[in-house]
Amino acid sequence: MPKLPLVIYPDAILKNRSTDVTEIGGELVQFCADMVETMYASHGVGLAAPQVGSNIRIITVDVEQEPPNGETLLTLINPVIVESHGRTTYEEGCLSFPGFSADIRRKDQIHVKAYSPEGKEIDLEAEGLLSICIQHEVDHLNGVTFLDRLNPIQRKLAYRRYMQIRREDEDRAADEAILAIHDR
Ligand code: CO
Repeated sequence: MPKLPLVIYPDAILKNRSTDVTEIGGELVQFCADMVETMYASHGVGLAAPQVGSNIRIITVDVEQEPPNGETLLTLINPVIVESHGRTTYEEGCLSFPGFSADIRRKDQIHVKAYSPEGKEIDLEAEGLLSICIQHEVDHLNGVTFLDRLNPIQRKLAYRRYMQIRREDEDRAADEAILAIHDR
C-alpha cells in the first residue's frame, strides 16, 4: 500500500499550477520521505507532489526504481530547468494514469537547479531517462500532464484510450464489489 493516496487523472489537482515551497523544515522533510515511500511502493520512477494531493513544488525521482541504498534517489524542491538541449522520444507512463503509456517527445539534456529537503542547493546536469523523468515531473508542477505534450489529434485519441482503460478498471472494481457482497 502506498503511504499517500495517488491522485488519478482527470482529477483537477493535476491541472493546477503548484506554488513554491517557502519554508524548509520538519513537516516538509517528513512529507518528502512519505513521497519517496509512495513512489517506491507504487513502482514509479518519479512522483510530483500534486500526484499525492499537494500543489507544492516538490518532485522525487529514482530511475533505478528500487530503494536498496537510495544512491540514485533525488528529492528536488522548487526545481527549475535552466537550460535544455536536443530531442528524444520515450514511451512514458505516469502513476496518475494507471495502465496507460504514450510516446512523448522531450529535450534530451537538461540543466536543473533545485533545493534538497535539507535546504542545500542542488545543481545537476541530466540526460536520457533521468532527464525525461525530471521534465515529466516538473510538468506536473505546472499543471501539465504527458497528454498535453501530444499534438491535438494524438491527445484526443490518447484521452479516449485512457478513459476506456479507466472505465474497464471501474467496471472490474464494481464486479469485484458485487462478488464480495455475494460471498458474505
Ligand atoms: Co506523471
